[in-house]
Amino acid sequence: MSQTSHVTGRQPVARTCPFDPPAEYRTLRDEAPVAEVTLPDGATGWLVSRYADVRAVLSDPRFSSRRRQLRTGDPAAGTPAPPPPPGMFILMDAPEHTRFRRLLTGQFTVRRMRQLAPAVERIVTEHLDAMAAAGGPVDLVQDFALPIPSLVICELLGVPYADREEFQRNSATLIRLDATPEEVQQAHAAMNAYFHRLAADKRAEPCDDILSELVQSGELTDEELAGVGGLLLLAGHETTANMIALGTMCLLRNPGQLAALRADPSLMDGAVEELLRYLSVVQYGVRRTAREDVELDGHRIAAGSMVVAVLSSGNRDTDQFPDDPDQLDVSRTGRSHLAFGYGIHQCLGQQLARVEMKAALSALFARFPDLRLAVPVEEVPMRDDMLVYGVHELPVTW
Ligand code: HEM
Repeated sequence: MSQTSHVTGRQPVARTCPFDPPAEYRTLRDEAPVAEVTLPDGATGWLVSRYADVRAVLSDPRFSSRRRQLRTGDPAAGTPAPPPPPGMFILMDAPEHTRFRRLLTGQFTVRRMRQLAPAVERIVTEHLDAMAAAGGPVDLVQDFALPIPSLVICELLGVPYADREEFQRNSATLIRLDATPEEVQQAHAAMNAYFHRLAADKRAEPCDDILSELVQSGELTDEELAGVGGLLLLAGHETTANMIALGTMCLLRNPGQLAALRADPSLMDGAVEELLRYLSVVQYGVRRTAREDVELDGHRIAAGSMVVAVLSSGNRDTDQFPDDPDQLDVSRTGRSHLAFGYGIHQCLGQQLARVEMKAALSALFARFPDLRLAVPVEEVPMRDDMLVYGVHELPVTW
């Protein structure tokens, strides 16, 4: 077995460019693709940075999805991964995971997501109308990028949009890197209590939405329903909102690419995939825990070790993307990216995310041909402090 390479300094390392993952990942891919590192919580773990290795880890059942949080100062650092809370199937392994995934896959089919497209387009148009009426500058996050996926996931799940302030606040806490264990615990408890109430409402008065169907299926306990509801709500709006806002900023900063897209709107499907690859907003990757000792690229990953599969790094790997992966190229074709993960946990909502991103970006740039940043780029507050990357605010005008 080869020697372990211990990376100095604690993960995550800082970015030097708003759209590129930290430059250190490139060095790791070249020199130490499976590297022993100090994780944000202070424990030792492994970072996997090459495309092929990321896929290998994410498709290997010897790596469990049970995991600890990776927060600074976590008192549980280094202890075994706890069992997942009821319904939180993103943290489960087969066959437990399979039961939930099977139940939900039928709700998120490509067909159903395409059927949803006109409703998404209506929501997008209403928000663009409101922006036009208000006049610039506006914060694109609050006025456009966040409400669209929030409204859509609320409509799909049957969550009253009027409750958004509470769930958006709790979701934000859950993905803040520096949230204290107490804050995380409180946000979980609040989400759980909220979905318990909602499940009772749906049971009393079922509607045409996913939560009602899940209640009526009789397959899930109330605890499981609350976990599934919280997971879908969180996963359904934070990631897509950030892809819309950061994707907009990225296109504005790459005017040649934006011009190509405007000249040929048929490039939009490919542009969405390219933005997903290039920006990889699940910025610190996805974590797994070794169930047993596993050998990976000549390293022995001991049972119980945490492994971070760095999606953003795999998505810049020249072995998979030979044509200058550090460039945004909306005409790039034919190379599947890792932005939605890989294996049995690959994003359940990816078709929905695509429908939303396509509708939002197409309509935004068509409606405001002179859209531009309203502040110097250095003043845009980036989400380095969140598990999901993006911008906290995006002041734009036209
Ligand atoms: C651009 C937007 C999105 C990105 C980049 C994204 C990314 C991801 C990634 C990387 C995973 C894998 C996690 C892992 O392996 O541990 C995942 C899983 C998941 N995503 Fe998404 N996601 C997006 C949008 C959505 C939407 C709109 C939904 C809607 C409900 C959603 C629901 C889920 C769920 C439920 C899982 C867990 C699947 C499982 O464990 O089987 N995501 N997502």
